[in-house]
Amino acid sequence: MAFDDPAPLPRPSALQAPQARHLRAALADLSEITPSSLAALRRDHPALSPDLISAIATQARLQTRAAPRIGDLALTWILEDAALQQVTRLDVARYRAGELVRRLGAGAVADLGCGLGVDTFALAEAGCTVLAVERDPWRAEAARVNLASLGDRVEVRLMDAHDLTDADWGRLRGAYVDPARRRGDAPRPRDGSRPRPLADPQDWEPSWRWILSLADRLPVVAKVAPGFDARHAPTTADVEWIDHAGETVEASVWLGGLGSGQRRATALREGVVDTIESAAQHAASASVTTQVREWLIEPTPAVRRAGLVSDFAAARDIPLLDAGGWLTHVHAVTTPLARSWRVLEEVPWRAKDLRAWLRPYGAVTWKTIDAALSADTWDSRIGHSPVRTGVPITIVITGQGRAFAVERKTDAGGLGQVLSDSRDGIGSDSAAPTDEG
Ligand SMILES: C[S@@+](CC[C@H](N)C(=O)[O-])C[C@H]1O[C@@H](n2cnc3c(N)ncnc32)[C@H](O)[C@@H]1O
Repeated sequence: MAFDDPAPLPRPSALQAPQARHLRAALADLSEITPSSLAALRRDHPALSPDLISAIATQARLQTRAAPRIGDLALTWILEDAALQQVTRLDVARYRAGELVRRLGAGAVADLGCGLGVDTFALAEAGCTVLAVERDPWRAEAARVNLASLGDRVEVRLMDAHDLTDADWGRLRGAYVDPARRRGDAPRPRDGSRPRPLADPQDWEPSWRWILSLADRLPVVAKVAPGFDARHAPTTADVEWIDHAGETVEASVWLGGLGSGQRRATALREGVVDTIESAAQHAASASVTTQVREWLIEPTPAVRRAGLVSDFAAARDIPLLDAGGWLTHVHAVTTPLARSWRVLEEVPWRAKDLRAWLRPYGAVTWKTIDAALSADTWDSRIGHSPVRTGVPITIVITGQGRAFAVERKTDAGGLGQVLSDSRDGIGSDSAAPTDEG
């Protein structure tokens, strides 16, 4: 099912009707929905309009795409392609909702621009009553359908957030806002293309200026892209970068009394959450060594984006290797804020010698988190021809001109080579697919 179908989308309530739900559940088992299977469905269900059948097939397809982000909600929620591109991952929404309640207490909060309703769902689950505001009529109705099971803990209002009245604001303890950050965030693009991210926060909807002015009224937490320039935040705000399953997916800016000028990095991996912040007790600088130990420790991208590598090293009492972006330790670490790589040996850094060293090996994965040149550049610079029967190998190139052959501590506790993903440097890090581009 493609988005070249010119038919208008049926209303979310039609997609949620019993017959439509039944058909969607049946379609979810099909690995692929082809034009001929769609034609057969239309023949087999003459009581349903062809447009409705197309839209149900689209829901089944979107469900597969949404599941890694929103888990089981994907099975029953009404979904939409453009909204899914900026949807908050459910784990992250739950983490932030819990953090908001921790800082603010449970109470009445607004979700300004609720989209399909993932953050509203998490806020209600965390104990808040939520005024969910959405100006797009189709999405507002979808959110109403999606959140119906939460009863009077959620009110979805179809309106522009700018039009909330003083009386509305007066009833709220705080607000969450996830502004639209892509041009033409009009729902339901038909060509399948992904709108470009808006680099200037004043172009977001609602604009960053408006979000900051809102924080003069009440406590606000805003979701922003991982590439957010923290200089746009007031010095009193906390800016928190969030990794989910190894990639930085977004940042939160805690405004209006919710923050105290901290930089934070939080990582969520397989149900474990860990946070580091720029607290005074870490101010003593981390120790530095030139002697590599049994393990190289790689702080996650959120730690690096937040500029907290030294804080992380100091807090864990693990020395920095050569004062660069890597730490080195006698043990592996278990926090989701870092990955551990067992050092096999230090290898030549000079291209000619490294090329010779690599000769017997299979494919090479390059790790260049603090190096001047990206993983791709090292790959073409060395031009290694993998030996078909050779062992794959991972090479760390440090920003201080050293190289190490390493193997990864897997999440199961074992060791292994990484078989894909040679794009893991700072350059490739920012090019890596994130939710917000
Ligand atoms: C990034 S999406 C929200 C996604 C949502 N947090 C989720 O995870 O599903 C932003 C939403 O804000 C809505 N929006 C933008 N400006 C708005 C405004 N002034 N008032 C109400 N809604 C607005 C857009 O229609 C869009 O659905």
